[in-house]
Parts: sequence; C-alpha cells; structure tokens
Amino acid sequence: MAKKSVNVLNKFVGKHETTALPEEVILSLDHLTMRFGGLVAVNDLSFNVKRGEIFGLIGPNGAGKTTVFNCITQFYKPTSGEVRYRGHDGVTFRLNDVKVHDIIKHGIMRTFQNVELVWELSVLDNLLVVGTRYFKSGLFAHFLHLPKLRKEEAKMRQKAEYILNYLGLSMYKDVSPYGLPYGIMKKIELARTLMSDPELIILDEPAAGLNDAETEELAKLIHRIRDDFHTTIFLVEHDMGLVMGICSTVCAISFGKLLGIGTPAEIQKNALVKEAYLGGD
Ligand SMILES: Nc1ncnc2c1ncn2[C@@H]1O[C@H](COP(=O)(O)OP(=O)(O)OP(=O)(O)O)[C@@H](O)[C@H]1O
Ligand SMILES: [Mg+2]
Repeated sequence: MAKKSVNVLNKFVGKHETTALPEEVILSLDHLTMRFGGLVAVNDLSFNVKRGEIFGLIGPNGAGKTTVFNCITQFYKPTSGEVRYRGHDGVTFRLNDVKVHDIIKHGIMRTFQNVELVWELSVLDNLLVVGTRYFKSGLFAHFLHLPKLRKEEAKMRQKAEYILNYLGLSMYKDVSPYGLPYGIMKKIELARTLMSDPELIILDEPAAGLNDAETEELAKLIHRIRDDFHTTIFLVEHDMGLVMGICSTVCAISFGKLLGIGTPAEIQKNALVKEAYLGGD
C-alpha cells in the first residue's frame, strides 16, 4: 500500500506516527502529567521501557503507580505529556491518540490491582472473550456461522487450552472463577493477557494477596512468560523481593514524581528512595 494511504489508515485508527524511539525501546513516557482537580497524581514523569525487559515501578501507596498504567492504557487521557510506543511494525506512535478499547490491538494487555474476571463465564470462556476480538471473519460469517468462523473458534479454543495448560490451570477450565483461591484468579488474569500475543504486558500488583511460596512461583512464571512468549513485562509491585529479584530496571516514584531509576542494586542504594519508600536506613 502507498505510504500516503497507510498514513490515512493509521490516522483513522488513531495511530499518529511520531518521532521514532531508539530501537531497543518499546514504551516511552515523556513528561507525563495526570491531574485530578487540584491533585497531581503523576507529575512530569519520563522514562523508557526496553523491549524484552522486566521493568518494575515502585512507590508508596498513592504514589501514582496505577494512574501511570491507566495513562498508558488510555483509561485516563493524560493531562499533558506523551506516551510513545513502538508497535508490531516497528513504527513509533502516540498512545495518547489511541482509544482505550483499541489498546489491545497494539499488543498491550494488562491485569488489574483488584482481579477483574467475568464471574458468569467459565475460566476457558474468560480467555475466549479476549480471543474473539482477533477473529478475521466478519459479521456476515458470524450470522451464518460459516466454516471459516468455526475454524477460527476452534483455533482460539486450542490456544486458550494451551495457555491454561502452560499455567497449570487446565483443571479449572470449565468452572467459574468465582470462589477460586485468589492466587488462581490472579493466574487466570495472567493467562488472559497471553491470548492476544502481547508485546507488552502490564501487571498491577501481581503478587498482592499471595503467600511467600506463591510469590516465588509467580516470579519464576513471569520470567518464563517473558522468555517463552517473547514479550516485555512492566509491573507495579509492593513485594520488594519480587521486584528486586526479577526486574532488570526499577523506577521509583513518590507523589507522582520520579525518585530514581536504575538497576535493582542502584535503587536499593538510592538515598531518596530509601527515605521515601523504604523508610530510611
Ligand atoms: N479517578 C481518580 N480521581 C481522583 N483521584 C484519583 C483518581 N485515581 C487516582 N486518584 C488519586 O491519585 C493518587 C494516585 O493514586 P494511584 O491509585 O495511582 O496510586 P498507587 O501508587 O497505585 O497506590 P497503591 O499502591 O495504593 O495502589 C491518589 O492520591 C489517588 O487518590
Ligand atoms: Mg495502585
């Protein structure tokens, strides 16, 4: 397709090409600010996430971590600043211009601080609702239930079953997630992120509510997912053992502002971080 037509098409789906990110960077926050009335929840925050890394965002309660995630996924439209992203095709564009429901199409998937699953559906169907967004057959095929659609459905089901098996969840596939142990529900949310061939998985406190053994297992799992699904992981977490153990880069914020960014060792030594987050020496 001619470049001009591609540009018109991209603009139609809210994809505005912008200054290219360095090749190794998948996501960039550039002077991001989010205000709620008089409250500045995210204050002039800038950092880069590299493709393939496990990146951790830490900070005390109310520091603005979830708000950062909501600004990336466009659940909130940032007050100012840019969120730039390098998509499947290597082209950099502004996420600010993308609608919240289109974020998934660009390979960005997230989990929520409080588990959000559809209780009325089985575990398998919770995964399939994500998968159906990728169906290539149109409305016509859906109405008539054409063989093409049935083939796609079968493929999605196979994929969901593979993912459930990968995460050791096969035994729960036909039951509702309601009432399952919290650790299992969190894993189901994680499984759901894998249905869309994600380039970037955003996890908001994946270890919250898990015991030590479960947290250790989760750390290994996050590593395994990054390697096996060739994805980038950006997580918010209060469990310092998990953050320092699996992240290659850690960013610390307080009152929406950057305190420090670096390797886990650098962040553990950072005086500002120690004072604001770890409670001094
Ligand atoms: N929709 C909103 N309207 C008004 N204020 C909000 C909204 N969302 C978040 N805030 C405020 O923004 C600040 C940052 O909240 P946020 O949830 O991002 O913090 P957090 O770092 O994720 O905290 P926690 O560790 O407790 O999850 C808080 O003061 C919060 O009350
Ligand atoms: Mg939060």
